[in-house]
Amino acid sequence: MKEIPEHLSRMPDNTAVKQQKLPAHEVRFSAKFVLCIFFGTGAFCLCVGVILILSAKRAKKIEINYTTICANCAELRENPFNFNRECRCSIPFYLPEILEGNVHMYYKLYGFYQNLYRYIKSRSNTQLVGENIKDVKDCTPFTVSRDGTPIAPCGAIANSMFNDTIMLSYKLNSSVQVRVPMLKKGLTWWTDKYVKFQNPSLNDLPSKFAGSTKPPNWPKPVYELDKNNPDNNGFLNDDFIVWMRTAAFPTFKKLYRRLYRIHYFAQGLPAGNYTFHISYNFPVTRFGGEKSVVLSIPTWCGGGGFFLGVAYTVTGALTWMASFALMAFHLAWEKKKVTPKE
Ligand SMILES: *[C@@H]1O[C@H](CO)[C@@H](O)[C@H](O)[C@H]1NC(C)=O
Ligand SMILES: *[C@@H]1O[C@H](CO)[C@@H](O)[C@H](O)[C@H]1NC(C)=O
Ligand SMILES: *[C@@H]1O[C@H](CO)[C@@H](O)[C@H](O)[C@H]1NC(C)=O
Ligand SMILES: *[C@@H]1O[C@H](CO)[C@@H](O)[C@H](O)[C@H]1NC(C)=O
Repeated sequence: MKEIPEHLSRMPDNTAVKQQKLPAHEVRFSAKFVLCIFFGTGAFCLCVGVILILSAKRAKKIEINYTTICANCAELRENPFNFNRECRCSIPFYLPEILEGNVHMYYKLYGFYQNLYRYIKSRSNTQLVGENIKDVKDCTPFTVSRDGTPIAPCGAIANSMFNDTIMLSYKLNSSVQVRVPMLKKGLTWWTDKYVKFQNPSLNDLPSKFAGSTKPPNWPKPVYELDKNNPDNNGFLNDDFIVWMRTAAFPTFKKLYRRLYRIHYFAQGLPAGNYTFHISYNFPVTRFGGEKSVVLSIPTWCGGGGFFLGVAYTVTGALTWMASFALMAFHLAWEKKKVTPKE
């Protein structure tokens, strides 16, 4: 038999990798160790959950649900033909004790499904980073206007942007009311404002948006959202960016304004009589939704909702249940192993 030349041989090389002779280490945990990890994780989750729930409970907040209070406006907005008519609504309320700290104002929507697949997809990211204003192919059904002009910002999310305006005033004494100073910038995630959203150019926005048109539901084009603040205008408008970050649940709140802490408001919102002045534009009753305005102070664990706390507690409880089940198995197994020897 002829010998096969070495370079034609199909035999694997005689190396440690190919011959699978590398030193191996098999990790073997003892039952005790695994049980400890399970119980430890469960205890950790339970503790964090309880702390989160307690701090969410302690957080002071005010929520005023204004769909019913502003019932005339809600009714007016049911009919799309009334959209040109302005509807204002004032809601007085009494704050029994100071709301101390960085007060944030949110709007909260109930029953608004910002998480529908086709809704979430209906946006153009190349447009929103200012690369190509006319790229509207992902935006169905809001891509072009009736005469074929591309819409900017296109898509269902942008078109349905929340557009109530909410102003807060404080009654200083029996004769004087002052407007509570609020900041409309610094509401977004850093990555949104500096990475995901950019204007086509830093200056002369109207000409950069030439050849595009406003979304059908908007009263004015995107480059007029905040004409006096170039860093809050166009796609860089904080209210717009906040709306474009879609919420995962049908009930959600979004940051609307932050308290500017000067004068009477240096410590926060002093106790006293306040009024919300709302320009009611955004229809919600047509889809059975509701709106409210929330004043609260964000804590280290977020805006003071119960969701995270409950999630941790449930996870912790489930882990403990699993641990007990494992322990029961383990004990039964040990017993079985021992019995035959007797
Ligand atoms: C809003 O207020 C009305 C009347 O007080 C109430 O019926 C409704 O359940 C409230 N909605 C929410 C979401 O709290
Ligand atoms: C407000 O938003 C609604 C829903 O998107 C729209 O129908 C309405 O025309 C808007 N009104 C104003 C004044 O922006
Ligand atoms: C109300 O407060 C303003 C501003 O501090 C003050 O000028 C005015 O005199 C006060 N009026 C009354 C009736 O106290
Ligand atoms: C707030 O308003 C109520 C009712 O108008 C009044 O009785 C009360 O004195 C006011 N409180 C303050 C601090 O102005």
